[in-house]
Amino acid sequence: MPLPQSTTVAYGDIVLLVGKDRRTFIRTVIEGKRFECHLGYLEFDELVGVPFGAQVPTHLGHKMFVLPPNTNDLILHLQREGQIIFPKDLGYIALKLGIRPGVHVIEAGTGSGALTLTLALLVGDDGHVYSYERRAKMQERALLNVRRAGLLHRVTFHQRDIERGFDERDVHALFLDVREPWDYLPQAREALRGGGFFGAIVPTMNQVIQLTEALYAGPWFLLEIEELLLRTYKTIPARIRPDEQMVGHTGYLVFARAAEREEQAAWDAALLAEGDDNGAAEDGGALDDAPTGPEIDANEDA
Ligand SMILES: C[S@@+](CC[C@H](N)C(=O)[O-])C[C@H]1O[C@@H](n2cnc3c(N)ncnc32)[C@H](O)[C@@H]1O
Repeated sequence: MPLPQSTTVAYGDIVLLVGKDRRTFIRTVIEGKRFECHLGYLEFDELVGVPFGAQVPTHLGHKMFVLPPNTNDLILHLQREGQIIFPKDLGYIALKLGIRPGVHVIEAGTGSGALTLTLALLVGDDGHVYSYERRAKMQERALLNVRRAGLLHRVTFHQRDIERGFDERDVHALFLDVREPWDYLPQAREALRGGGFFGAIVPTMNQVIQLTEALYAGPWFLLEIEELLLRTYKTIPARIRPDEQMVGHTGYLVFARAAEREEQAAWDAALLAEGDDNGAAEDGGALDDAPTGPEIDANEDA
């Protein structure tokens, strides 16, 4: 993988180059080539062997830091077309979908591949990402982005409309970033294993409502609707305070677990008969009506 493994720069590494003005550049270190920016140029051959964290002068004498990039840097420097999922949401989505080495996960649509890249980094060489996109041009761009990160072997790209369903079965997790995710829930359920993790991101509350209604009526459980707000701060020690501008809205996140269950009407009727009239009605299933989060056994480690 071209993400740096060592403490010094090697040919093939993806590096982050940052000047004192904090403008950042991501480049792959290629023999015989050079990097150029507004601060001058650097010969890649002269970077090899330099310890990460060091500063290297351009031919104009401007110093640039040489750093290993993190996933956030890779995502922000993607070649992109159209909207991508923001890093603040990507990390949380991966966590909620239970993504870890060995996991098999489906996503649609691929778009520019921000989620594809994040998932590919996390599933390791024993896991796999299956990415669906109906527009060929979009998917080509994503493929280039994933190839640049050296992760192509962890991703299978399908170019087609997910209305036709998914080829894979019994996957651990499935995520939809399409305009009308509720239209593809039967296909998603068919591809997921029992208990598998479903997630979707939508920009409007109208879409959240349609998706929630569809999930609520189907073989899904533990519905969750969430939104993440990220506030950044100025980092000058004498004047630490919030940045004036922030990204106020990216998307709503909706999660659920694939489950076997009765038709919703039967479920509600059973609950009413038992005298529980708020669980199903409020929360997509009586068992997930706990208002204060999961129960933690304080004696577990005792
Ligand atoms: C917002 S973009 C996805 C961005 C991507 N998740 C990322 O982070 O880079 C939505 C993509 O879904 C694709 N799409 C929409 N409906 C689709 C469908 N029914 N089947 C396959 N792809 C679809 C669109 O062509 C578009 O490229």
